[in-house]
Amino acid sequence: AASPGDVATLTARYAGKKGELSGLKKQLGSLESIDDKKAAGAAINEAMAAVDAALDAQRTTLAAAATAARVESERLDLTEYVGKPARGHAHLVTQAWERLEDVFVGMGFRVAEGPEVETDWHNFEALNMGAGHPARGEFDTLFVDHVAPGGTSGSTVLRTHTSPVQIRTMLAQEPPIYIVAPGRVFRRDTPDATHMPVFHQIEGLVVDRDISMADLAGTIDAFTKAFFGQNWNSRLRPSYFPFTEPSAEFDIQRPDGSWIELGGCGMVHPNVLTAGGIDPEEFSGFAFGFGIDRMAIMRHGVADIREMFADDLRFTEQFS
Ligand code: DAH
Repeated sequence: AASPGDVATLTARYAGKKGELSGLKKQLGSLESIDDKKAAGAAINEAMAAVDAALDAQRTTLAAAATAARVESERLDLTEYVGKPARGHAHLVTQAWERLEDVFVGMGFRVAEGPEVETDWHNFEALNMGAGHPARGEFDTLFVDHVAPGGTSGSTVLRTHTSPVQIRTMLAQEPPIYIVAPGRVFRRDTPDATHMPVFHQIEGLVVDRDISMADLAGTIDAFTKAFFGQNWNSRLRPSYFPFTEPSAEFDIQRPDGSWIELGGCGMVHPNVLTAGGIDPEEFSGFAFGFGIDRMAIMRHGVADIREMFADDLRFTEQFS
């Protein structure tokens, strides 16, 4: 009997109630002498016991073989886990994000945040970009099919920058305000080597008494040296943003002397302070904002920003 099925067949055929040995028992009546009946009955019982024992033994053997086969088939090769298990690490963007927070917290800033789905008012209007302001066109805005209470159709957007966190912070707390707001932002852009429709920015906002452009320049320079190194420098170049006046771009200078454009900044526009519930006669402030991913790729010499979001381990593992 090579299988449990064979054992069952043989059991029925020889040892079962309708089996051949039981059949022989029924024929005992046809024997005439008592002694013959006894002898034949004993022989049949002996044969039955022997057949039962043989079937039991084969059942046990087959069950043991089945268990052994299952154990073998479920065997796990653990040799690949022997030694030090490989550990993951934070993504390059997360690393940059966290280091930026550390550096600014070290300079006395608090980390603030706001929603990724914003109202037109926080994202544009309160930042001195009323309906029809030409600067709105520079933000390729993604609209959300949702009308906030009191809002109109098309007035809910995916935030195009972290600047609306300035407004939310001013509305939530009194000066002095010293915050940075890192976060995800969205624009209707086709991905290419320097653009992604989803990317990351960090916003800075200071509102206090007697804040001047010198405080802004000093803060940018202190940040540059703390984040990039003591032998890096910074400079401001005149520029324009609706939410700051005056406005500037800030560049950082590598130790080899070359300049890289990093972000925008300026003195918070009085209209923006007013929208945030702060009296521009009493308080002044500065703000800045720049791209975290852009900064990370410049720092590490990555040629294409799309590499950052392709989730290719051959790329990400280079930044452990
Ligand atoms: N929000 C601007 C952008 O996304 C960047 C920016 C410029 C932020 C100047 C600021 C600022 O806070 O003062 O292009």
